[in-house]
Amino acid sequence: MRECLARVQSRTRLTQNGGSEQENLRHLGAAVRAAVPVAFSRGVLYSLLDPPHAVGAVMAPDERLLRMFSYYRDAELRGATLLLKLMQRLDDPDAQVKLAKHLEEETHHAWLWTKRITDMGGVPVRVDDGYQRRIGLEIGVPKSYEQLFALTVVVEERAHQRYLAHAASPTVDPETRAVLHEVTKDEKWHIAWMENKLREMAGPDGQTRVDELLARYREVDRRVFRELEAKEREAFGFSLSETRAS
Ligand SMILES: [Fe+2]
Ligand SMILES: [Fe+2]
Repeated sequence: MRECLARVQSRTRLTQNGGSEQENLRHLGAAVRAAVPVAFSRGVLYSLLDPPHAVGAVMAPDERLLRMFSYYRDAELRGATLLLKLMQRLDDPDAQVKLAKHLEEETHHAWLWTKRITDMGGVPVRVDDGYQRRIGLEIGVPKSYEQLFALTVVVEERAHQRYLAHAASPTVDPETRAVLHEVTKDEKWHIAWMENKLREMAGPDGQTRVDELLARYREVDRRVFRELEAKEREAFGFSLSETRAS
């Protein structure tokens, strides 16, 4: 016990400038860290002197990424809201089964983004000007089944493209890439069944009408997405959508 106490005293002995040796080393470390750049990994900034595994090396999560993942989360939640609207109105039993599965997957995607955000040490950011809100302002409230289905198809196509482009980016960390792969694998099925059902409901005479509706919504989608890309360039200096998706 006495030996142990002596060791502690020797480690904390006062040095010539009045501070303890431990304190002086801590100050020196902080000064050196302040002078070197930071590295980015797992969505969190680290000092280059403190590799990501170092205890106590974690700094604040990157606010820009927290915002981006909050946009993804918001898009998933608003997509789920569209599906719920459809479920409440539609009588088609086949569509009811598919909508239930689809809804479950969209809410799961929203949870995966929420978890990614909290794993980074953040909380979801409120999104008032996300992709779907902007689209809604441009096209108005969808009134018919055809409009609701067509809007969902276009929104799903955008999510699929964007997630692929983000996953292909060399800047993405492994944890985020895993979430991107998880959410992307469901989107192809979502697009396919919604477009098939839309065309089935429209019947042979309604195919041109569906084509025109999809073309109109895709045009709005491109415009809205360009605005969001510009915001992203402002924040990051580049847009992840410029990465060529495979
Ligand atoms: Fe999704
Ligand atoms: Fe989806």
